[in-house]
Amino acid sequence: MHMARRKISVIGAGNVGASLAQFLAVRELGDIYLFDVVDGVPEGKALDMREGAPHWGYDSAVVGFTTTDKDAYKHLAGSDVIVVTAGLARKPGMSRDDLLNKNLQIMKDVGENIKKHAPDAVIVVVSNPADIMAYALQKITGADPSKVMGLGGALDSARFRTFLAMELGVSVEDVNAFVIGGHGDDMVPFIRYSSVAGIPISNLLSKEKIEEIVKRTRFGGGEIVNFLKTGSAFYAPGASIRAMVESVILDKKRVIPCAAHLTGTHGKHYGADGLFIGVPIKIGADGVEHIYDMDFNAEEKELWDKTAASVRENAQKVDRFLSQ
Ligand code: NAI
Ligand code: 2OP
Repeated sequence: MHMARRKISVIGAGNVGASLAQFLAVRELGDIYLFDVVDGVPEGKALDMREGAPHWGYDSAVVGFTTTDKDAYKHLAGSDVIVVTAGLARKPGMSRDDLLNKNLQIMKDVGENIKKHAPDAVIVVVSNPADIMAYALQKITGADPSKVMGLGGALDSARFRTFLAMELGVSVEDVNAFVIGGHGDDMVPFIRYSSVAGIPISNLLSKEKIEEIVKRTRFGGGEIVNFLKTGSAFYAPGASIRAMVESVILDKKRVIPCAAHLTGTHGKHYGADGLFIGVPIKIGADGVEHIYDMDFNAEEKELWDKTAASVRENAQKVDRFLSQ
């Protein structure tokens, strides 16, 4: 029986989009379609990746399209997954929220094209602030909310795990940790549920050391921006998105914290009805297949309420933008 390859579209062929495209191709998860507004960049990067294939040994096609060509977005049709990285990245002194207005304009253009050409695709939103862009893009596309997820926790947890492994001198593979809430500086690294091979981190590290690592995790994005000066992180983001996309394409049912749409009992549980915000989810072929309701102690609840309030405030800005 002829089985067509899966199709993954990546909108925005900048640092994150291009790194991701390369990682996806190396894993042969499908054919990769790259889109960008800058003339020639998606075509050039795609061809360059294709020419590396003989050494990597992948047969995935990698093709690029410049979106100023009015027919470019037709090539979204048939995508299984669409990853949206189009937008501005942070520069020193800029918060993720500073990007909000600029990136909302871009979501409008991108979202209308997704709606037109690939309304059934699973959508992974990366452009910042990602919880808010996921919220906006779901509204613009009218997509089933369970098919939309935003990058945040996958990356923030990877940073948390990395810092814990570095401190303890153990394999990152054995460090289990997760960070929930908005992908902003008030995200919530969940200490109580973080462990090394099941051993709670509070048994292994002092309170002060854990606090230091939590703080470094919260400002992990800014730490990279301060080094790079002209942009923000892309290797760890690319790796994180690759894991999310892989779980959809291979229907792996991985449990990864991501920005997901909270409604019904989940909306009530988290006090965040209608918002997209980082919570542990199960990712499969249908997108967000399950949302896990975490129990909070008093201290965690306070942190959670703070991050939820800032996501809500920005979501209201989206509502105002979309009603104009
Ligand atoms: P970048 O500047 O390297 O790439 C962005 C690309 O988007 C550029 O190539 C640009 O030409 C393209 N673009 C801009 N407007 C477009 C439009 N209307 N249509 C199509 N393409 C368009 O930035 P980078 O580092 O790749 O970051 C991309 C976005 O992802 C930023 O908003 C950044 O803040 C965000 N980000 C989010 C993370 C998360 O955890 N949620 C992690 C890392 C980045
Ligand atoms: C990061 O966390 C900038 O959101 C991006 O690296």
